[in-house]
Amino acid sequence: MFDTIRWEGDAVVLIDQRVLPTREEYVRCRDAAAVADAIRDMVVRGAPAIGVTAAMGIALGLKQSRAADERALRADLEALGALLGATRPTAVNLFWAIDRMKRKFEELLPEGLEATRAGMEKEALAIHREDVEMCRRMGAHGAKLLEDGARILTHCNAGALATAGYGTALGMMRAAVEAGKKISVFSDETRPFLQGARLTAWELMKDGIPVTLITDNMAGHLMAKGEIDCAIVGADRIAGNGDVANKIGTYTVAVLAKEHGLPFYVVAPTSTFDLTLSSGKEIPIEERSSNEVTHVQGVRLAPEGVGIRNPAFDVTPHHLVSAIVCENGVARAPYVESLRRLAAAQAA
Ligand code: MRU
Repeated sequence: MFDTIRWEGDAVVLIDQRVLPTREEYVRCRDAAAVADAIRDMVVRGAPAIGVTAAMGIALGLKQSRAADERALRADLEALGALLGATRPTAVNLFWAIDRMKRKFEELLPEGLEATRAGMEKEALAIHREDVEMCRRMGAHGAKLLEDGARILTHCNAGALATAGYGTALGMMRAAVEAGKKISVFSDETRPFLQGARLTAWELMKDGIPVTLITDNMAGHLMAKGEIDCAIVGADRIAGNGDVANKIGTYTVAVLAKEHGLPFYVVAPTSTFDLTLSSGKEIPIEERSSNEVTHVQGVRLAPEGVGIRNPAFDVTPHHLVSAIVCENGVARAPYVESLRRLAAAQAA
């Protein structure tokens, strides 16, 4: 396949998701600042992938740190956490990974500076490995929800490119195929960054899973014609009541699915749960540059000076969510209880 994220000891290497599928190129991030730029500029994107990349950015930064004592190394860690934490606000996996690295740091510090640097590298690699394992477990739980012959709509890219490998929503599809089920997929193009047209279509074609690309405004029509059986998406942050933040346009898909009586499934690891929030209203929504809307691949579409909005995510209220699939099982409404139960299973 390909490596979404690769640790090379003196660099974090990322497949450049800005130029896929036409070019398969890798960006070599030689320090934490380059890792932060790669997250901000969406060389790497997708909530779990952002978290894994940030963990590796911290490990790289500490490895390059010239700190000669605990206080100085902790100060470098804080600076790295602030640098990477300031890249994008919505995907909670970023902050989950930074917090996990900070906890590990305090655990390791009594063993000395070199042991701490080496242990942080191991922890970042563990986060990478566990992310793939969580995707496979989500896939196995989710595949059971799919009928043989299911015609699935997906929005954005929640695949191997959005994680350390295998994918969340696309992992559920891959696991269904591995279980012998015949499925086909409609992929929303997902304006403005076109994750569906460029990344999801590319991944599924590589796997030989039948995929049809549509523009985002075609989903309602195809649902009305009975050509879609369910929708499956990923998530960037899930609040304690089950409200789900995901790529802009996901809420529209959920409303359409409800209107047509179709299941709307969310697939996300517990590292995407933010149970400190009582509702989706508290989820920070990133607003990205207007260029993403006015231009496609550098070509201007819209007149100079036109007003632009570009919220990168929206929130789907829990009552539109049929189930949330995580690595520990399937959560159903009421989500206040079921999410806590599955999150606790993680801690156990
Ligand atoms: O702006 P992006 O491309 O980072 O947005 C990604 C999404 O919304 C994904 O659906 C989500 O992060 C889940 S990825 C497994």
